[in-house]
Amino acid sequence: MDLSHLYTPVQHDLERLQSLMEQELASDDPFIAELVRHVLRTRGKLLRPALVCLSAQASGGAGDARLWIAAAVELIHIASLIHDDIIDDADLRRGEPTVNVQWGNQIAVLLGDYLFAKAFDLLSRVRHPEVAPTMALATVKMSQAEIMQIKYGQQPHEDEDVYFRIIAGKTAHLFSAACKAGALVAGNADAAPLLSTYGLEWGMAFQITDDALDLTSREEFLGKPIHSDIESGKVTLPVIRALRDATSEDRDQLVRLLSGPARDGQREELFQLLHRYRGIDYALDVAARYSRRAATALTPLPDGAAKDSLMRLAEFVVVRTR
Ligand code: IPE
Ligand code: IPE
Ligand code: MG
Ligand code: MG
Repeated sequence: MDLSHLYTPVQHDLERLQSLMEQELASDDPFIAELVRHVLRTRGKLLRPALVCLSAQASGGAGDARLWIAAAVELIHIASLIHDDIIDDADLRRGEPTVNVQWGNQIAVLLGDYLFAKAFDLLSRVRHPEVAPTMALATVKMSQAEIMQIKYGQQPHEDEDVYFRIIAGKTAHLFSAACKAGALVAGNADAAPLLSTYGLEWGMAFQITDDALDLTSREEFLGKPIHSDIESGKVTLPVIRALRDATSEDRDQLVRLLSGPARDGQREELFQLLHRYRGIDYALDVAARYSRRAATALTPLPDGAAKDSLMRLAEFVVVRTR
């Protein structure tokens, strides 16, 4: 399933988005301009802006303010990635060396802050009274969840609720806000809760899949390091499943393997244990359940090209390879 096909109804919006971001982040200072060039040159999948624009279209269509929202949500996302890469000590993002590797942590912290601020500058221009608060609340939840992840999500545990709460906060609420804001700016108050639910369920499926890909994919496909979650001690659904179902001997061994830095052969042993307890299959089943719930949320919307893309994106989210 090719993303560019699914983006067809909003392809023109996404082209305009790129020039809008360039214009908004333009700077007279050559160093800031260099940082901004890096950020805008390394393009990701643009899922969040695509979802804003598809949601607006599926809700009856909106004016140019949809592009400000689309740009803002992408900037919030990029800022969170720049900060996330400092926290995870990651060296690769979108196939390029990370900001922290190229310019150091100090610049990375400040560039992230700059992009967050710029995002809210854009949102302050949107006249709908609920749009900026919706995006602000999602960003608050994201920051809280990233803190909670460090505090509660980095020691081996078997509590799915802790995991679900963290991924809802760090990922799903931003997708939910993006979709809801699209409906709001289209002036369709009835579609807003439907798209908000769609985005939340979709975002859960997205992060569970991301966590599975961290274990199954390759750096060349993802453009970011693999096995980063086990290396940083981040407990994800496949691990929770294995810890819960393992014999006490296997569980003790899993905890040992997860707790220290991997030595020769230990990574392989960890994977064997995850497979023995079908951890990755289980996580992908759970993701598929979320994606079905996302699709169901759209049922009341009238049929059309944008709704069709949203339905197909719900299928894409769990089969994606990048
Ligand atoms: C990566 O998001 C961060 C997560 C929430 C897992 P994306 O996979 O959407 O990143 P880009 O924008 O395509 O680089
Ligand atoms: C998502 O978590 C990061 C944010 C929401 C900021 P991950 O740590 O899984 O993201 P990747 O895998 O580095 O893209
Ligand atoms: Mg990360
Ligand atoms: Mg990840």
